[in-house]
Amino acid sequence: MAYNLLKGKKGIIFGALDEKSIAWKVAERAHEEGAVFTLTNTPTAMRFGEINELAEKCNAVVIPADATNIDDLENLIKKSMEILGGKVDFILHSIGMSMNVRKKRVYNDVKYDYFIKTLDISSLSFHKLLQTCFKFDAINEWGSVVALSYIAAQRVLYGYNDMADAKALLESIARSFGYIYGREKKIRINTISQSPTLTTAGGGVKGISGLMDFTERMSPLGNASAEECANFTIVLFSDLSKKVTMQNIFHDGGFSSMGMSLRAMRMYNRSLDCEDCPDVE
Ligand SMILES: NC(=O)c1ccc[n+]([C@@H]2O[C@H](COP(=O)([O-])OP(=O)(O)OC[C@H]3O[C@@H](n4cnc5c(N)ncnc54)[C@H](O)[C@@H]3O)[C@@H](O)[C@H]2O)c1
Repeated sequence: MAYNLLKGKKGIIFGALDEKSIAWKVAERAHEEGAVFTLTNTPTAMRFGEINELAEKCNAVVIPADATNIDDLENLIKKSMEILGGKVDFILHSIGMSMNVRKKRVYNDVKYDYFIKTLDISSLSFHKLLQTCFKFDAINEWGSVVALSYIAAQRVLYGYNDMADAKALLESIARSFGYIYGREKKIRINTISQSPTLTTAGGGVKGISGLMDFTERMSPLGNASAEECANFTIVLFSDLSKKVTMQNIFHDGGFSSMGMSLRAMRMYNRSLDCEDCPDVE
């Protein structure tokens, strides 16, 4: 159901790779809610992904950009303002990647050039984006910027590796820049900490199906889907959340406030009764 929440608003959406991507769902919902926007991703993602299909559906222009590259970001911001006819009202940063995760390097045996790349792609790109927008005065007053995070920024979750540090930095950048953007331009910056979700990035997380089963059992409302994350992102882009800034908001069915649930306890007890179950670390 559409509510015209973004009627007349302009934006930029990073990170739609395929129809499983959270950014893909956000683009679909933003379009339904009356927004116009540009879409962006890396040139490589464009070769392998399906972004043009999404662009056609949403009447959006696709502008390639590596979010770690300032020249690409400057080009993206300038072109987006040209195409959309002025400053933007919302931006989604939906970007994450770790070569240590991809190459199965564990946290106590990471490759440091991979680690630096993880931080550059998954966190510093957010600072680079905000700084570039600031330089070009590219966001309207009362605009809204959202980046996607994960609870591994606060708690240790087995297998999340250097992405945990990247998310902690991402959330910190949202607060630090949120202060400056709020003070100078009345613009809000937030992160949404989303439940584990089966996307291309999510699928790369070690033991994702066990993790999703665990968080589903632990969360009183169950895991939040990509579609539900998109709905909440639209609220943060809309004028209905004008005074929310510098926050990391858990969108996780209540998981972040739980210690143990009945459903998880039942499963755990069952595993204690299981004689044939192999020991796992
Ligand atoms: N899937 C989950 O379980 C989950 C949970 C919480 C948060 N998140 C976060 O949500 C965001 C979106 O991930 P997703 O799950 O939709 O997966 P996804 O794989 O669909 O999206 C990740 C995107 O990052 C893009 N990207 C990678 N390097 C880039 C670069 N240098 N420049 C620009 N873009 C680049 C990829 O091309 C891809 O489109 C990420 O920040 C991720 O960490 C995901």
